[in-house]
Amino acid sequence: VREPDLKGRHVVVSAGGTREPLDPVRFLGNRSSGKQGYALARTAAARGARVTLIAANSTLPDPAGVDVVPVGTATHLREAVLKAAADADAVVMAAAVADFRPVTYAAGKIKKKDDQEPEPIALVRNPDILAEISTDRVRPGQVIVGFAAETDDVLANGRAKLKRKGCDLLVVNEVGERKTFGSEENEAVVLGTDGSETAVPYGPKEALAETVWDLVAGRLG
Ligand code: C5P
Repeated sequence: VREPDLKGRHVVVSAGGTREPLDPVRFLGNRSSGKQGYALARTAAARGARVTLIAANSTLPDPAGVDVVPVGTATHLREAVLKAAADADAVVMAAAVADFRPVTYAAGKIKKKDDQEPEPIALVRNPDILAEISTDRVRPGQVIVGFAAETDDVLANGRAKLKRKGCDLLVVNEVGERKTFGSEENEAVVLGTDGSETAVPYGPKEALAETVWDLVAGRLG
């Protein structure tokens, strides 16, 4: 059992994957299960934090003692994160947020027409929530953590992303067969703006979560 080193702290974690609706029955989504974000919420609560978990379309049970805010789209997730982050000591953006959403939402189900080619789906960019809260800091000293799933040049892309987003720590995952999406295990490197690189070997998502909180607690002092 660890020290309650997050006692008196409020932490916000986003988890799961956003869904961007096309019509009442269809959406653009992604493979995020929410397991890493839920592991972050559980471990923070165990370390004494007050935890707000912004959960995008996850089917996982609510962790005990955690304030869960269910959301659907990137727009909903943004509103919930901005609200909760206002008095948070740390924000960890583990959710897979859709980069784009359909320009239009059809109020009725889109029908196929016999002798017509399908319409292309026009997309518009979603706001980058991580970059937004990192650039316009609402609280001095707040620690902001992002996630990045990469398939190649993992560390170089991670360093560039850390800089671009403006967050304090970036957890870089290599997307592979047994890891990351839907899996119980993960393997990652946590990059810090101080140049630090903390490697977390392949193992349970809880272990990565504990390392993230170690680094956050260290920065909170
Ligand atoms: O740019 P990329 O999608 O790889 O960045 C991933 C990180 O940025 C994650 O922490 C994710 O939660 C966050 N993100 C966000 N808003 C978006 C897209 C990603 O906050 N629109």
